[in-house]
Amino acid sequence: MTTELITGIRELTSQADDGVRLRDAALVIEHGRIAWLGPSAEAPAADTRTDVGGRAVLPGWVDTHTHLVFAGDRAAEFEARMAGQRYAAGGINTTVAATRAASEEQLVAGAARLRREAEDQGTTFLETKTGYGLDLASEVRSARAAASVADLVTFLGAHLVPEGMDRRDYLDLVTGPMLAAVAPHADYIDAFCEVGAFDVEESREVLLAGRAAGLGVRVHGNQLGFSGGVRLAVELGAASVDHCNHLDDRDIEALAGGATVATLLPACDLSTREPFPPARRLLDAGARIALATNCNPGTSYTTSMPFCVATAVLQLGLTIDEAVWAATRGGAAAVGREHGVDAVGSLRVGGWADLQVLDAPSVAHLAYRPGVPLTAAVWRRGVRSR
Ligand code: NIG
Repeated sequence: MTTELITGIRELTSQADDGVRLRDAALVIEHGRIAWLGPSAEAPAADTRTDVGGRAVLPGWVDTHTHLVFAGDRAAEFEARMAGQRYAAGGINTTVAATRAASEEQLVAGAARLRREAEDQGTTFLETKTGYGLDLASEVRSARAAASVADLVTFLGAHLVPEGMDRRDYLDLVTGPMLAAVAPHADYIDAFCEVGAFDVEESREVLLAGRAAGLGVRVHGNQLGFSGGVRLAVELGAASVDHCNHLDDRDIEALAGGATVATLLPACDLSTREPFPPARRLLDAGARIALATNCNPGTSYTTSMPFCVATAVLQLGLTIDEAVWAATRGGAAAVGREHGVDAVGSLRVGGWADLQVLDAPSVAHLAYRPGVPLTAAVWRRGVRSR
């Protein structure tokens, strides 16, 4: 058994319950977990030692909203959007056609490349979804590909009614044979509750079928308008409702009074030119928020959690500590992994050694030096991966 002592930590953000940034800290890793953490002057001896040279250490990012299983890209659609065209859900069909035409090996290779890219920027826990197959065989292939690269898989058969298919027939497929075939590979069910995708009643039907099949519930809600997705998510006790761009007072009250985390996706908002979610009002009302990349070829082709953190500070009005919390422990809350032996998003004795070192003395540099690659080193489950 080998123990590794990490010293030279100028600032340690643990995201433990006290929320304090510890100065001049050290930690010990053993069996993939943190065996000790505290002031460097009190550090115990260990078999090996890594000096991080006065840098900041924090938990690895917890990215709880990605769509990594796809083929092709939509750069032309993006270019048209930057020239003034509004984003519409129908663009998903382009990626569905490319994804159906790809082999499972190609889908796995593409998703693995993006996972690697994310990890190189400090992400140590990542969720990904199906949703670009939209027929039974392609959704199953997508779910298997997702499970091979991600820590958590979400079934998003209810992403769009595929071209050429009757709505009722498709809902019967998603809630019947498709759900039965995908559920063994998935942890959560999701529905894109939005104009042009699925309305509240259709989304409820899909989500309840998923819950009955043993899956957790999460929702894409209120991205392009007041879709009702947020209130549906809170009503169902969903773990998370993602996007949240268009919220009225009742939506905010519902989130503040419920257990559902609002997952905000600022990179997507920049790419779709939707208004940013009212992050400040959510926090001030007492709601919990997470930050995620929403990496996908249509609305947010980035794996960069540091970019999302910087944007959340600079554009959404979050403090540094709020943004870092939302991208680590907030993500954990959004996937029910805040507590217990498999908790992620915080550094605590007994917890997983999922951590990153910044090439900076403080987490403030994440927004103070936006766009600068600051990930100096990453450990996932105690193994250094960068
Ligand atoms: O989360 N909003 C729905 N799904 C994705 C976008 C999918 C696409 O346009 O390809 C999202 O933004």
